[in-house]
Amino acid sequence: MTTQFKRDICILCIAVFSSFFMGLWSGSVLRTEQRIHALAHALRTEHARHTTCTCAAQNSSCLNVSPAQAEKRFARANIDESDKVTYHNYHVMYGPALAPYLQKPVRLLEIGVEDGKSLKLWQQLFPNHVFIAGIGYGAGTAVHTAFKRDLTDKHVLYTGSQVDSNFLARILKDVRGKKFDIIIDDGSHIPWHQLFTLEHLFDKFLEDGGVYIIEDIETSYWDAPSASIFGYPIANAGVGKQGNLVEKLKGVADTLNRGVLLDPSFSILRGNVDHLMSHITFSQNCVIIHKKIPDVWKEAEHNTVQNYHFPAAMDSTRQDYLQYKSSSNWEINGMIRT
Ligand SMILES: C[S@@+](CC[C@H](N)C(=O)[O-])C[C@H]1O[C@@H](n2cnc3c(N)ncnc32)[C@H](O)[C@@H]1O
Repeated sequence: MTTQFKRDICILCIAVFSSFFMGLWSGSVLRTEQRIHALAHALRTEHARHTTCTCAAQNSSCLNVSPAQAEKRFARANIDESDKVTYHNYHVMYGPALAPYLQKPVRLLEIGVEDGKSLKLWQQLFPNHVFIAGIGYGAGTAVHTAFKRDLTDKHVLYTGSQVDSNFLARILKDVRGKKFDIIIDDGSHIPWHQLFTLEHLFDKFLEDGGVYIIEDIETSYWDAPSASIFGYPIANAGVGKQGNLVEKLKGVADTLNRGVLLDPSFSILRGNVDHLMSHITFSQNCVIIHKKIPDVWKEAEHNTVQNYHFPAAMDSTRQDYLQYKSSSNWEINGMIRT
């Protein structure tokens, strides 16, 4: 127990006793209880402020939890046995990417609630979280039909589809435009849904320096006429077939290097959200994407051409690129672009 924490406990005890006697004095035990809750809340907030680091997520000096420790904590936090750990082993694939956030007053959004097991996992894993929201939809979900349910002052469930742009806009309004540090898409797993949601959320919902994780990309490989999940058919899947999420996101490797390709405006994602990406990591059955911190990237972006160009290869680079760009069809059939 830290000295700071012990001090907070002492202050809380004094506050509790003095509030209680003040409450008796005024004859209102009810008001006293409210006062105690308010004081306890204020102290918890103050304690969180002292125990969290405030530096940007990409600054390695705030990594007071190592990637290996983060992976272990992820597994331990899974008290309700969500299949994230027991079946998918996602603690291994993206646990390390969450290391910078474990002590932070994090804001997290997860698409796909089902029976709420993973939402409990996040509450355990991020003890200093300030807001955890889930998007639930369809059969088996713990979410009722109302647009929003407040479970506590920092745990919220929204009901609607991840491919309903009006619903997503309504959430943004509800959170007053306040962005999330972490977004996890564990919803329908339909490749075009995953893409639609990424294109809709990456800019407006994700903090600079934040991380966006897409789980269950196995569906991009399910090349069979009968392939389906959660009652939706899966179209255009198959390795090398340009029409699924994995093939589409492979192209981001090139748009990240658009400076070297001499085409600074090259983008394959709606709203140019690939221009906002700093890293894209493919792992087993998931993709992990980090968002740039503009100030950190300003200079690096401008240096691409002069630093990384090989003059003798200029013409062939341009030729290869133009051929590649004109022969590629990156659209996903069934993608609603409204
Ligand atoms: C894999 S489960 C989520 C599991 C949960 N995250 C956990 O780890 O405990 C996926 C959920 O997404 C829901 N879903 C299906 N279609 C959806 C859609 N269009 N938008 C949002 N969620 C959807 C399913 O009904 C299901 O409840």
